[in-house]
Amino acid sequence: MSDVNAIVSAGKRLLLNNYRQAPVAMSRGEGCVLWDTDGRRYLDMTAGIAVCVLGHGDPGLARALGEQASRLIHTSNLYYVENQIRLADALVRRGFPGRAFFCNSGTEANEAALKLARRYQVTTQSRPERIELVAFENSFHGRTVGALSVTGQAKYREGFGPLFGPVRFLPFGDVEAVRAQITTRTCAVIIEPIQAEGGIFLPPAGFLQELRRRCTETGTVLIFDEVQTGVGRTGTFYGFEKEGVIPDVVTLAKGLGGGVPIGAMLANEEVGRAFEPGTHASTFGGNPFATASGLYVQETIDRMGLLERCREAGAYLANALTRMAERRRPRTRGQRGRGLLQGLVLDGDAAPVVTRARERGLLLSVVGGNVIRLVPPLIVSKAEIDEAIQVLDSVLGDV
Ligand SMILES: Cc1ncc(COP(=O)(O)O)c(C=O)c1O
Repeated sequence: MSDVNAIVSAGKRLLLNNYRQAPVAMSRGEGCVLWDTDGRRYLDMTAGIAVCVLGHGDPGLARALGEQASRLIHTSNLYYVENQIRLADALVRRGFPGRAFFCNSGTEANEAALKLARRYQVTTQSRPERIELVAFENSFHGRTVGALSVTGQAKYREGFGPLFGPVRFLPFGDVEAVRAQITTRTCAVIIEPIQAEGGIFLPPAGFLQELRRRCTETGTVLIFDEVQTGVGRTGTFYGFEKEGVIPDVVTLAKGLGGGVPIGAMLANEEVGRAFEPGTHASTFGGNPFATASGLYVQETIDRMGLLERCREAGAYLANALTRMAERRRPRTRGQRGRGLLQGLVLDGDAAPVVTRARERGLLLSVVGGNVIRLVPPLIVSKAEIDEAIQVLDSVLGDV
């Protein structure tokens, strides 16, 4: 079963039907390039949905994982895991003063954050009535019941109610709503510093500062979901650095392990003390193997200057997208994004463009219905960006 058609038809028969998958199966990768099982080449501007920050087939990551696997893969959190502690130290040193809990995905990191915030208000602060959550319209925080409860898009929630709550959804970027609706009865606020899945929306200048101010004023726990914006994606390690705001809790996943499943929730000392022995756990969370990948990513970000490279490549890509958007009007409406989290906004459904681009060897994804998302590995070169722009431009000319 090695050719693409055989894999696709077996997949249709054997897997649950919850994904809208393209009829392609990848076999190997190198840098920003993937090859499918029929040997076809693709330039990858998806990086496994903003995950593979070091690109594909990084030999150093493979070596680090091989060495770790041959020594020790898993022990559980019955015992201390040295790699886990070293990774927590690295994440704190990146600019978040606090402590870490490790899990296996973004959803789980958000789930942990919501549980921590509730326990902090209800138990540590002895305010059992303080349970209301505030989240934002058009947000995406994941698919478990807790993370889905604060996801402000009907299409993900349909058919799964009643969910965790109560949750109040505010318009993203609305300072007046923040001032009026976050009160001393609010437990926590969860927000993406840039809404990614919803269509790459940046908050208006000063909005996150105002949100921070209001949360401090009312004693509300401020959670930043940096599952997509974190680990250098927007040109700084944490997206919040650019805003000059530090949340009480921050969640990470995606890029953290360069492709190996790992998530993290970091909390400041004050809120973090709500987790005591037995209050939360994960069997696999922070295991030696996954945290070895995290450590390798941390070290490589510095060794290769990937934050700086992301800022440069991001500016280059944003500029190219802006020019293309102007050239292809009225089919396109413009560019949005920061660093290597970039979107090209179309005047209609982006799916046919993504399909046609894939047929021409360029991998892209759709967010918010009409936005083409480009989230390449942070090692992407200008020549690769030029190639992506050229293919996308010609597809826009045709579709
Ligand atoms: C901002 C944000 N939060 C949470 C998630 C869920 O992460 P995961 O799919 O790793 O559970 C995602 C995934 O796209 C995300 O973009």
